This record gives sequence, structure tokens and C-alpha cells, in this order.
Amino acid sequence: MSVWAIESDSVTDTVLVVDFGAQYARLIARRVREAHVYSEIVPSSISIEEIRARKPKGIIFSGGPKSVYATPAPTIDPGIYELGIPILGLCYGAQLVALQLGGTVSRTGNGEYGRTELTLTAPSPLCVDWPTTSEVWMSHGDAITEVPPGFVATATSPGAPVAALYDPERRIFGVQFHPEVVHTERGSEVFERFLLDACGCLPAWTHVSIIEQQVAAVQAQVGTERVLCALSGGVDSAVAAALVHKAVGDQLTCVFVDTGLMRSGEADQVEDTFRRQFKIDLVHVKAADRYFAALAGVTDPERKRKIIGELFIRIFEEVARDLGAGEGGAGDEGPKYLVQGTLYPDVIESGSDTAANIKSHHNVGGLPDDLSFDLVEPLRLLFKDEVRAVGEELGLPHDIVWRQPFPGPGLGVRIIGEVTPERAEILRNADAIVVEEIRRAGLYRTLWQSFAVMPAVRTVGVMGDGRTYAYPIVIRAVTSDDAMTADWARLPYDLVERISSRIINEVEGVNRVALDVTSKPPGTIEWE
Ligand code: XMP
Repeated sequence: MSVWAIESDSVTDTVLVVDFGAQYARLIARRVREAHVYSEIVPSSISIEEIRARKPKGIIFSGGPKSVYATPAPTIDPGIYELGIPILGLCYGAQLVALQLGGTVSRTGNGEYGRTELTLTAPSPLCVDWPTTSEVWMSHGDAITEVPPGFVATATSPGAPVAALYDPERRIFGVQFHPEVVHTERGSEVFERFLLDACGCLPAWTHVSIIEQQVAAVQAQVGTERVLCALSGGVDSAVAAALVHKAVGDQLTCVFVDTGLMRSGEADQVEDTFRRQFKIDLVHVKAADRYFAALAGVTDPERKRKIIGELFIRIFEEVARDLGAGEGGAGDEGPKYLVQGTLYPDVIESGSDTAANIKSHHNVGGLPDDLSFDLVEPLRLLFKDEVRAVGEELGLPHDIVWRQPFPGPGLGVRIIGEVTPERAEILRNADAIVVEEIRRAGLYRTLWQSFAVMPAVRTVGVMGDGRTYAYPIVIRAVTSDDAMTADWARLPYDLVERISSRIINEVEGVNRVALDVTSKPPGTIEWE
């Protein structure tokens, strides 16, 4: 089985999204789930046996950056059309359907990119009750010029003689436009009609059903054994912990390591939420001194990351041993399972070998062999928005559920230069002001991340009558969909001014504030 495969026996209706190399596959998979049908992304090299084994109720072909006539152009085993499973091809996927089944795809020299007017020419089961013309999003050079035998053309556009087609017998559909992008006016209806009418899927994938399924799966996996979970303060580990707690109650122990490099108020919030609200058994390790000692004199970003990651593992190992993990032998009462907040995009990512390793990310994991835990990954099937919905349903506080991402090594990689307790305190206070003002301006949720960075150099300033020689703080705020690329946020100047003057006035040790106006690429979101 390929790395893309995910155990999903407990899930009823599944739709496979075949990835032809576009950025769009994830978006398509999310749109399917928004229609309450479970979807999985699979590579176009998937075999017919594997498709059969997954028992999908429908298959969607994504778009792709190549021409169907490029060599090599991604393709799929044409045996897929013999399975009797409804298929929907989008853009490149539609052209592939047309080509493989005997239609014609031509280089018309008349490509369409962006908003385009679609004109319906015949009734289509995917465009029920649409007006004759509507706006869609196109992105194609080639176009289908002749439908395959058995197909009817149902729409056209200025650059696409056949902009939509289907075979009523075999329930195979193709649309040249992209229904998954918001600029296609009635795009979500295309998915709904395909999933519910053509495939006959039940719209049963809801956050309530996700919780029920995962609770049952965790109970079946864990039985009466004990389970450990490391909390980071972030949304993923918090939701994973709450879900596992719902499944196995007191069998769960959570570990929170306060590295001294957390955001303002984070440790208190973890205490409040997990110990007081959820009544979860929580081991709170106050390890700031150990982290600062280990980081003394270190300035190289990768070494910092390694030190922080390794120390985390050592501390976690100590706690696990204290709880009796890894003793082995009869009557071993220690925890055998470890919860990880792995999400579906991480699973897809680790299945692709193209992603370059830009930074060694520190996440919980890589524990020593003699503490060999079995992993419990209750979020492995979920996208981030689903994790948040599940978190809300489980009653986690808004602040945790909607918290912006925070790197594992924390403020350690936002202090550029040596990490000291004094610098961490200054940065934490400045960061709290950035976050507070961004929230007040109503921008917290629309920004992917907004935080403070401290380049640990000092600059000259003047305050009152005196010369100052203190640290600068840089405001970093970005918009992004998935952190792979990002744009610097155009924060209103009056907001920037408020942040700047509050930081200078309220945070001792800072005499200058700057704004980072670098997108990713070429910058990264974090400074280290
Ligand atoms: P960069 O800086 O590479 O970051 O543009 C992309 C996203 O990943 C987050 N990030 C991390 N997350 N452990 C994490 O769990 C890490 O070591 C780490 N480093 C960066 C970063 O905040 C951004 O969202």
C-alpha cells in the first residue's frame, strides 16, 4: 500500500480525489468534506486494485499544471472507467477523461485564465436550475473540442468549445472550470450534485460523527491501557487530548513542558483548560531553567532547534519513566500509547518526496526506542478547519481553538541570537501587545500568524532626556493558506503605530519597532 493510504474502515462513504499535480487537490478534498462526505487524496499512480480495495462511492480527478499532450503527462489507468464508479474530472481531469475515452482535446490557442462566462447549452445533472450564463473560474490552455462517444456537451465558454460534458450511462462527468475555487459562483453545487445525486453518498461526515468515530476508534485501539499526551498549548495537541479524554477518560495523562519559551499566558491557559475544566490528569513540568542553561551561548538556528527538541524528548522520557512507561514485563502498569496531533496535510506531505527540508521542525516524536509507544493519532484524517470544529464541539475554549500556529521551539527561534531569560521576557511582553492589538483590530483570525521577533542586537535611541541603547522588536504578520507560501499583511498604519508606541512605552528594554515586509518566498514566516 502506498503512503497515501489511510485506514478508514469506520467511515462509510468515501470519495477519492486523484491528484494530478495541482495545488487544487487539497482544496477539492476540503470542498467534498464541506458537503459532508469523507474524501481522501490519492496519487494518479494508484492501481485499480487499490481503488477497488478502498470502495469509493465516487472519484474526482483534480486539475494539473501540465498539458495532456506533455511528455510525460500524468495519466491514470483507463481501467478506472470500467469500475462502475461515478467520476468527475475537473479542468485537466476533464480533458484526460475526454482524451482517454475517445474525444478530442486541442490546442486552440485560445486559453482562459480567471473569471469567465459559462453558457449552458443542454441540461446537466450537476448544474440544476442554473441560469443560462454564470461566472466560473478557468485556467487552461488546451480545450476539449469533441466529446467521446456516449457523452453529451452541456456548456461552452469563449475559450472552451466543450466546457462541461457527461455520460449519463456511466455517470462520468467533466467540467473545464474549477468549481472548487470561490470565484466559481455555484461551484459548491457542482460537488453537492455529484456527491449526493450521481454517487448517492450520504452527507454523514459531520463534526459530531467525526467525534463518534474517533472516540470508538481510540477505545478499540487502546482498550484498558494507559495513554500519554504531550500538550504544546497549540490547537492540534489540545483537540487530540480532549478527544482521547472523551474516549478513555482517566486512562489519559497529559504532559505540559513549560520551556520558558511559550507565549504570554499559555501555561496558565493549559492548566485552566485541562486540569480545571476537563479534569484531565496533567503533569506540568516547569523546565525554563533547564532550557536556558542548555541554550546559553548558542546562536546557530539549527543548533537551537536541536537542543530544544532533544531536551523536550529527555524531559518527556523522564516523566514517562516516572509514570512507569517502558518497564516491560508482567503487570507493567505504565502508559503504552502516545497521542500525536498529526493532521491529514502532514500525512499527505510525508507521502511526497519533493518537499525540501528547509528547517528541521521540532514536533513531539523521535522518542527513544526503549520507550517504544504505539501512536494514537485521532486527527490523522482531518484538515485544520475540521480539527477546529471538533475542538469547539468538544468544548475547548475559543482562544485555544482559534490560536494561530506557534512553532515547537517557541520564542527560541524568534530571538535572533542567544536566548536568555531576559530576552525571552522582553519578547513575550512585546508579543502579547502585538497579539492584543491585532485582536482588538479584529484581524486575529484573518491573519495566518502575527507575532513579535527580537533580533538581539541593540540600537541607539532617545527617550525623555536620555540616550537609550536597547533591543528592537520586529512585527511579523502574514496571510497564508497553508504556510507553504505567505504574504506580509498590509496592517493599517494606525494599528502599526499603536503597537509600536505601546511596545516602546510598556516594554522595558525596547527602543525601536520595525515591520517585516517580506513575503514567503523569499523569506520564511519565522526568522529562524
Ligand atoms: P516557516 O518559518 O518555515 O514556517 O515559513 C512555516 C510554518 O511552520 C511553523 N513552524 C514550526 N512549527 N515546529 C512547528 O511545529 C517547528 O519547528 C516550526 N518551525 C516553523 C511556522 O510558525 C509557520 O506556521
